[in-house]
Amino acid sequence: MTELLLRGRLLTFHDEPLAGDASPDAFTYIEDGGLLIRDGKIRAIGDYGRLRAGEGRNVEVIDHRPHLIMPGFIDTHIHYPQMQVVASYAGELMEWLNKYTFVEEQKFSNQGHPERIASAFFDELIRHGTTTAAAYCTVHKASVEAFFTEADRRNMRMIAGKVMMDRNAPSGLLDTAQSGYDDSKELIGKWHGTGRQLYAITPRFAPTSTPEQLELSGLLAREYPDLHVQTHLCENTAEIAFVAELFPWSRDYTQVYEHYGLLGPKTLLGHCIHLTDAEIAAIANSGSVAVFCPTSNLFIGSGLFNLARLEASHPPVRHAIATDIGGGTSYSMLRTLDEGYKILNIQGQRYHPLRSYYQATLGNARALSLQGIIGALTPGAEADCIVLNARSTPAMRLRMETVETLVEELFLMQTMGDDRTIAEVYIAGKPAKSLLAS
Ligand code: GUN
Ligand code: ZN
Repeated sequence: MTELLLRGRLLTFHDEPLAGDASPDAFTYIEDGGLLIRDGKIRAIGDYGRLRAGEGRNVEVIDHRPHLIMPGFIDTHIHYPQMQVVASYAGELMEWLNKYTFVEEQKFSNQGHPERIASAFFDELIRHGTTTAAAYCTVHKASVEAFFTEADRRNMRMIAGKVMMDRNAPSGLLDTAQSGYDDSKELIGKWHGTGRQLYAITPRFAPTSTPEQLELSGLLAREYPDLHVQTHLCENTAEIAFVAELFPWSRDYTQVYEHYGLLGPKTLLGHCIHLTDAEIAAIANSGSVAVFCPTSNLFIGSGLFNLARLEASHPPVRHAIATDIGGGTSYSMLRTLDEGYKILNIQGQRYHPLRSYYQATLGNARALSLQGIIGALTPGAEADCIVLNARSTPAMRLRMETVETLVEELFLMQTMGDDRTIAEVYIAGKPAKSLLAS
């Protein structure tokens, strides 16, 4: 039995704090808190003194005071093969894909390349405090093997899948409708539920799949209804026009996915920027999740995610937040929350810091239907947590002199923080960041 008792200021969410700090039931904050971890799971959370006197009596203590302990961040949309695409100087989505992304992704057929990038990828996630991600691999089976092998070795809870694409890309990146289906099935059998790994059915997006491939993707979704489906939707106006050309029978882009049975509560739809009212209704009624990728949307110039509009629908559209590396420009969920705040703010949508941290933890866990498993410091949940240091740079230390409340501290970390703000990361109860080679 491995046990640890972490000491520090604890923050975790039970629900979305819609009214910010006027939603006290939505979160727990403990000034001198204890988090008891046993065999990779959270055993108890409470006042440190009480835990130390009781269940945590003989347990090794790691004292993180005065830092803040929270659940690990969750990134709901990221492309691990794009680590060498980040910061490519392209104008817009289609140019960015053709000129940089599709070129780089072809390298995943090279011996040793997927393994090298997968290892660097998990180092980077840990460095930034991200303990779970929903990731795209490439079209190559080897990219998925390398990803899950490395995630499993590190015992990290990951969601990923082989990208399926059988048209409108270089031949080195194409599968066929049948091989995409067969390879996905084989990978599902091997990896879904192995350790902490979860498989996601991953048709890249409508422009790179034939109707036959989307048909078979839908068949996979019906055959494995508990699997996630991840794809892209309405990121860019040229992309939408292309989909209209390719699927002339369809009312809109969303209806393509709907037609092939790809919408549902486990479906993650990257971007969702340029949606009609009919599309919003279809997404909302299916329970699919719109994934907000702020740094990517700004970098590729795709547009502004309109959260208020999605939330105003009945039922509201479920949503999540993500980095979208390598369209996105930072691995950090703090940087992502900051850019997300700015995108909403410029549209007159104020977003409270408590809602931001809820979203990066429990909110994203709910969007992935993984609440109770990750995303909160609750007994029985997996012990993925992070330690945040609001004084991690000289400028932050100085600014902290004028900070008086928890909310101000959170907002400061969101606005100025990055990987340096993440003092430690625990994966299934084991320290991970302090063990990284620097
Ligand atoms: N649409 C299809 N593929 C991609 C991708 O790799 N990144 C982004 N941002 N959009 C996409
Ligand atoms: Zn993407």
